[in-house]
Amino acid sequence: AANQIIELVNKQKGKKVVLGLATGNTPIGMYQELVKNYRDEKVSFLDVVSFNLDEYYPIDASHSLSFTSFMKHYFFDHVDIQMENVFIPLVERDSTEKEIQAFCQAYEKKIKTYGGIDLQILGIGSNGHIGFNEPGTPFYSRTHLVKLTDETIQANGLRENGLEVNQAITVGIETIMESKKILLLASGQDKTKIMKQFFERNVTVNLPASILKKHSNVTIVIDKGALGAQ
Ligand code: GLP
Repeated sequence: AANQIIELVNKQKGKKVVLGLATGNTPIGMYQELVKNYRDEKVSFLDVVSFNLDEYYPIDASHSLSFTSFMKHYFFDHVDIQMENVFIPLVERDSTEKEIQAFCQAYEKKIKTYGGIDLQILGIGSNGHIGFNEPGTPFYSRTHLVKLTDETIQANGLRENGLEVNQAITVGIETIMESKKILLLASGQDKTKIMKQFFERNVTVNLPASILKKHSNVTIVIDKGALGAQ
């Protein structure tokens, strides 16, 4: 996955490259590999513009579980990406419904202003979500506020880490589908079941990731654990 990013960034040298970035355990190794390649001077992120997929709401950027902290910890703080080119759907606490809506529209507009996402990195939730688009989310959804399912709250360890949040802002499914290229990453045995369903089931809103089958340029990077192989 890291190599795909490096190739794209190096190929476009001098031109802006727009990356859609994901958080979670799955892409950690990818970010480590990117940082290593940056240190070895194999790649520079000076021309990269990035849009993160999602962020909890409400949350302070400095909270250890915020996706903003995650991105700084694993990637942004270690490479030459320019922070003015970094976008995360972090909405100010106590925003009104209208303000949240306006933020989401502005986020969509910004993605368009930069010519859309060139390469979108995705993980998959154990219930098939992409970003925070939980099962049942319409395929035509755009950046919006969502209520997290209990399964996601548990999978992400929010309560045991003292985070009482149960909402998030996520880029929508249609936004994801407009990316020119998508990399879906799946790793570990807790993804075996959902990946089996992903390969076997038809496209359905009950398994949000299934819509990716309709995209013309998706690469799936899956390890033995998630494949259920020994
Ligand atoms: C989180 C994120 C997703 C991520 C998924 C899987 O809830 N919103 O973008 O892909 O869960 O996370 P992990 O890679 O830790 O299994």
